Amino acid sequence: MTKPGTREPQPAPPWPAQPFSTVIVGTGAQVPERILTNADLEKMVDTSDQWIVERTGMKERRISAPGEAASDIAVKACEKALAEARVKPADIDLIIVGTVTGDMLFPSTACILQQKLGAQRAAAFDVSAGCTGFIYALSIARQFIATGVCRTVLVVGVEMLSKITDWTDRSTCVLFGDGAGAAVLKADAQPATGILATYLAADGTGGEHLYMPAGGSRLPATVETVQQHQHTCKMNGNAIFKVAVRAMADAVKHLLRQADLKLEDIKLLIPHQANLRIIEATTRLLKFPSERVFINIHKYGNTSSASTIIALDEARKAGLIRPGDVVMIVAFGAGLTWGGVVIRF
Ligand code: ACO
Repeated sequence: MTKPGTREPQPAPPWPAQPFSTVIVGTGAQVPERILTNADLEKMVDTSDQWIVERTGMKERRISAPGEAASDIAVKACEKALAEARVKPADIDLIIVGTVTGDMLFPSTACILQQKLGAQRAAAFDVSAGCTGFIYALSIARQFIATGVCRTVLVVGVEMLSKITDWTDRSTCVLFGDGAGAAVLKADAQPATGILATYLAADGTGGEHLYMPAGGSRLPATVETVQQHQHTCKMNGNAIFKVAVRAMADAVKHLLRQADLKLEDIKLLIPHQANLRIIEATTRLLKFPSERVFINIHKYGNTSSASTIIALDEARKAGLIRPGDVVMIVAFGAGLTWGGVVIRF
């Protein structure tokens, strides 16, 4: 055992002659037990099942229990992913968590997970990129693996949006749900497998459309900020809707060019599950066949950073992704941010 704050010296890994490929060797997901249906929401705010289904495609979402925090469900998603990958926590070099609703502002949820998993060797940090958090985290992880710095990376997307939702605001409270997903990434010598391309983008000028005003250094918590519901998510839904369609289509085009692929090569498209109409508008714009688009928004609503990894895990476990299949994941979110990845399984 080393003393806290120390590590045994390790030889530096040799800089690889060729970048290593990054393969996904295990995934896992976990959602809270409690289901909140559209009928439940009808009793809370002036809304209807018909409005929510027609405008969003959502039927129910999962809501965490009081006292349940992001790391509590994330750790279960990680354990499932590690079990499938047959990787021990002690073998993890790095943990990256995409989240905007971690357990606390600090320490990072990645450090909390490192302790819960017993991944003593792992470095750990969080990434804040709104709903694009998992894509950003995956892309960063790939850089560490490609350069030979890390062999095994645990990437997590977890969100507890219910904790920052204004439950009196019908324009946002019907949209969000809680959930977690995790992926274990490993270095591989085969250049034609694993992550083929990543694309990250941001436009801070759109930050005003989706944000939480208080709780940071701009507006620290006071009695007034609590009374004025300033610790909850504020959103200009129409503005986000328009940007989201353009941004996801933009990500698809960049990824195809980088990976030297055509739309026909994509076996499954996994878009961020924010709104069924956004997904349909994007695939119409791209002329992508709807039967090759993965959708689970009716079950979970928008789980932000967790959305695409929960969807990837479900698609894999449902047998929709076979060895050799090329899968594209695209997302957009607060920041504004957007991006995607292409993976050959
Ligand atoms: N129930 C009933 N009526 C509602 C509700 C509700 N829950 N919410 C809004 N309305 C009303 C509005 O008040 C408005 O009424 P009015 O015409 O009398 O003024 C009417 O419905 C239409 O409102 P719009 O906002 O124009 O509805 P729209 O069709 O744009 O749908 C929505 C709203 C679902 C929010 C849509 O704009 C959207 O999905 N935007 C993108 C949101 C998104 O993706 N956010 C996630 C970003 S990711 C992240 O980082 C967290």
